[in-house]
Amino acid sequence: MSAQGNAEGIVVAIDGPSGSGKSSTARGVAAARDLRYLDTGAMYRAMTLWMLRHRIDVDDAAAVAAAASRPDITMGTDPSAPTVQVDGADVAQEIRTHEVTQNVSAVSAVPQVRELLVALQRETIARARREAGGIVVEGRDITTVVAPDAAVKIYLTASAEARAHRRSREVRAADVAATQADLARRDLLDSSRAASPLTRTADALELETTGLSLDEVVAIVVKLADEAVAARQGSAAL
Ligand code: DC
Repeated sequence: MSAQGNAEGIVVAIDGPSGSGKSSTARGVAAARDLRYLDTGAMYRAMTLWMLRHRIDVDDAAAVAAAASRPDITMGTDPSAPTVQVDGADVAQEIRTHEVTQNVSAVSAVPQVRELLVALQRETIARARREAGGIVVEGRDITTVVAPDAAVKIYLTASAEARAHRRSREVRAADVAATQADLARRDLLDSSRAASPLTRTADALELETTGLSLDEVVAIVVKLADEAVAARQGSAAL
């Protein structure tokens, strides 16, 4: 069944720590059901890149807050070719550098940054619901803050070892132990910050992906999306 055909498209919200498989899963689900795709982590990374390039001290929350509205961040939501631009330039490669990864938790902890990016995320979601069959959105606060009314809410997890191996493969890092330590540091910062920390809500389905293939995880989430669409069509027909 297609997710298309509703008056308003559906939202599939996926949260979870780094390396849990969010991006691959979200893209796979969006491609399978012709939905849009939004990587909100890429938006926090783009904001961080801009701060670094403009020599803003990322540990100075007031300076980050004061500058937060200056970058123009634009996201392309085609799951087969998602894009991220800052001030009109493609930054897909630059936002994945170690320097950005090291600094993104500090920038994303600043409430003004979150306020601006959450507003942009909600606009993107609203447009996708109007103009497409809906959208798959991944991040840390999608099920809790950005789209708490999403039709499907998933919290993806995997063991620390599995996450470190996946992330090391992605960034082609040979030192898996160092990657695991880096993920643990970022998890702690992302889960303990005051503004919208990474948390699992009671109504989000926890999906433990250690030992599952990507195809298996995508199939589970696609089934949930199909069920949500069917349930909505059923209730609309009443
Ligand atoms: O998913 P990622 O590793 O690319 O995310 C980069 C950082 O952005 C992550 O350390 C925390 C932050 N982030 C966030 O605070 N809220 C989101 N919705 C997504 C990411």
